[in-house]
Amino acid sequence: MNQPSAQSASPYGTLPPASSPAMRKPVSLPRLLEMHARGEKITMLTAYDATFAAVADAAGVECILVGDSLGMVCQGLSSTVGVSLDTMRYHVESVTRGVRRVQGTAWIIGDLPYGTYHESKEQALRSAAVLMQAGAHMVKLEGGGWTADTVRFLVERGIPVCAHLGLTPQTVHALGGYRVQGKSVESAAIMKRHAHELQDAGASLLVLEMVPATLSTELTAELPYCPTIGIGAGNGTSGQVLVLHDMLGLGLGKMPKFVRNFMADLPGVQGQHGIKEAMQAYVEAVKNGSFPDNTLHAW
Ligand code: KIV
Repeated sequence: MNQPSAQSASPYGTLPPASSPAMRKPVSLPRLLEMHARGEKITMLTAYDATFAAVADAAGVECILVGDSLGMVCQGLSSTVGVSLDTMRYHVESVTRGVRRVQGTAWIIGDLPYGTYHESKEQALRSAAVLMQAGAHMVKLEGGGWTADTVRFLVERGIPVCAHLGLTPQTVHALGGYRVQGKSVESAAIMKRHAHELQDAGASLLVLEMVPATLSTELTAELPYCPTIGIGAGNGTSGQVLVLHDMLGLGLGKMPKFVRNFMADLPGVQGQHGIKEAMQAYVEAVKNGSFPDNTLHAW
């Protein structure tokens, strides 16, 4: 009897077919570093469930971030602060199953939520182990120099780490809102110092959120071993990330101006009529440098 395939019909819909496995190799850290060195842009999208993760993988997205933004877009929270480790574990498991079911190749990053790495390096290791055992290939944590010892501790124990500087949503209350970071000469210098400390500690990716394009471009050139992934940080970074719901035009609130809705027709940009097509258009726009548009990025 034939075995059911990932494409067989089910009352709950089907997951998209994988491209020919021969053509697609799993994304790895050396490959991301090589892309950074060659100047090929890295694409990242958030996803929180099996189906969207499988579609993103099939659309050619290299990295899937199971972000704690799920607190806002899935759970309806007003910030990411209330997300628990158990919730993150559940969503990392779902995304991992989705990618595996289509024999996908995406690099999966699990976000460590607020309060799960702040106490000690040991606490961070225990929390990171939960997400790695759920299927993540890497964990992400927010914050500057104070996290460097934690990053080193995790990396020494075989856990790849993505750092996150600029607007760090878990500390939105301390930052006084969702504001651009690193605008003054002093704050830019501090961010640069933190970025170097994180690279030296072994971080292998660095998200830069709402940072002036000039600063993120300089940082990208200064960090040969730590590709930068921008969100609201201009087009000079090694790659880009967007929150899935935002790029599909499903945001509940006012969208920041750096977000592009890939489903909508915009001046000079043709919108897409399907979710996979919108993700493919995102991948293409990041790769060819037409997204993000620095003119919409006034800071
Ligand atoms: O949680 C998240 O989705 C993130 C991205 C916005 C980078 O941290």
